Amino acid sequence: MGEVFYITTPIYYVNDVPHIGTAYTTLAADVVARFMRQQGREVFFLTGVDEHGQKVAQAAAEKGESPQAWVDSIVSHFTDVWELLNISNDDFIRTTEPRHARVAGLFIDKLKEKGDVYLGSYEGWYCIHDEAFLLSSQLVEGACPECNRPVDWVKEENYFFKLSSYQDRLLAYIEEHPDFIQPESRRNEVVSFINTGLADQSISRTSFTWGIPCPFDERHVMYVWFDALLNYLSAIDYGADDARFERTWPADWHLMGKEILRFHAVIWPAMLMAADLPLPRHVFAHGWLTVEGKKMSKSLGNVVRPADLVEEFGVDAYRYYFMREFSFGVDGNFSRRTMLRRYNAELANDLGNLESRVLTMAGKYRDHVVPQPGVPGGEESTLIDKATSTGLSAAGKLEQLAFNDALAEIWELVHAVNRYVDFSAPWALAKDEARSADLDRVLYNSLEALRQIALMIFPYMPATAEKMWDHLGQQDIESVALPAALEWGLLSPGTETSRGEALFPRKMEAAEDN
Ligand code: MSP
Repeated sequence: MGEVFYITTPIYYVNDVPHIGTAYTTLAADVVARFMRQQGREVFFLTGVDEHGQKVAQAAAEKGESPQAWVDSIVSHFTDVWELLNISNDDFIRTTEPRHARVAGLFIDKLKEKGDVYLGSYEGWYCIHDEAFLLSSQLVEGACPECNRPVDWVKEENYFFKLSSYQDRLLAYIEEHPDFIQPESRRNEVVSFINTGLADQSISRTSFTWGIPCPFDERHVMYVWFDALLNYLSAIDYGADDARFERTWPADWHLMGKEILRFHAVIWPAMLMAADLPLPRHVFAHGWLTVEGKKMSKSLGNVVRPADLVEEFGVDAYRYYFMREFSFGVDGNFSRRTMLRRYNAELANDLGNLESRVLTMAGKYRDHVVPQPGVPGGEESTLIDKATSTGLSAAGKLEQLAFNDALAEIWELVHAVNRYVDFSAPWALAKDEARSADLDRVLYNSLEALRQIALMIFPYMPATAEKMWDHLGQQDIESVALPAALEWGLLSPGTETSRGEALFPRKMEAAEDN
């Protein structure tokens, strides 16, 4: 069961335009998915959009359109950004698709038959913006604690899910699976929350119709979160293609931001328990990104769009910055200045210059042909050890979603290669015919180091890795299997290299002050 590596992002509310915060989860998932493919795993990487709920219905009404026409017209905001960011998702689910309605209906029926869904009445607050039922005690000055917007008093007949009866099983499961909810601080918050006592959850609405009808009572549509969580099952053909489902479920990682962890770490596991399905292996809640110290909001006008940064810095610099600058589990602050600094120091200088000078020397001194490796000396042994240990530890960090640490390690290798080149001074060796074999050795090992770096950065910066691969005369980096390809010395002497354009042209320092 579950031999496919299955990773998901939340499905985004389609009426919000993606910004650097929403793109953060998807980018992280893409890095993991690409890495797992490199390891030879069969991967299913899912993202998509959440199209039901009152917020969408209201937005459509304001535009004078039907909700379906409205969501159809804006879904490309998401697909376009994922394409721009070179996101390699295997599927894109929309909750208005028939495949999703089928699974949601099947699932709720199953819970109803089991006696875990019952008709009751709900009276309380509802925040339309966050699509959340709220207790009076949760309100802050009468408003939604998440978005500060006014809340509505709702009094409806609703179907309820018996969440309360899963409290003990959930706690036991979390206890027995310490790496189920990550990071650990968030896990502790979830445990404390469950310990305060779980109330049954309202899972249907009658005051509007934009949702999936409950099969046993068509006056009700499913509560948008109940429907949304089920996307993780509908995309893998739950109840339709059992063989596929068995190979893919449970998910290895559900990634999301911290504010929606409870849905994924409490309600979702309880729903799965109720349906007798295994729970996801890990759920990870990352931090929130602010912009120049402030929460992003339309009213502040400080929402940063990926497209603007990609236009300025390029897609791989975007990907590098967001994975390098922040620690995935905690909040972080975006600033253009830190992005520019990292661009110039780490991409243009450390990596870009290294690549360009090694390939330039290979061109100048060896007519673009990879020379013989020769016999490694002390300097080479140090370099080879560094590369081997970096390959292993960067992979280990990535598997724990410590992307920034993984990149920091890879950059230590980049520094080590720069030092190796400086120390070995090929330009001096080139002046002495008697040292031709030494020059061969230094050039070979520098080029081999670039080959290794290309493989290591591939999940983070696929296009850059591909360019480096191409410059080294290699083909089809996507189909190279790790860790075997990280054996030192696989670059064949005689291979033709090329210089190509600079990977990351330096940006004006003056622009740093903008
Ligand atoms: N539709 C629900 C998810 C349903 S999943 C079954 C939803 N959508 S959302 O569009 O509001 O948010 C999706 C994700 O974007 C969340 O993981 C959230 O944390 C993330 N982010 C939104 N703003 C963010 C930042 N400023 N920073 C980092 N992530 C942020 O919730």
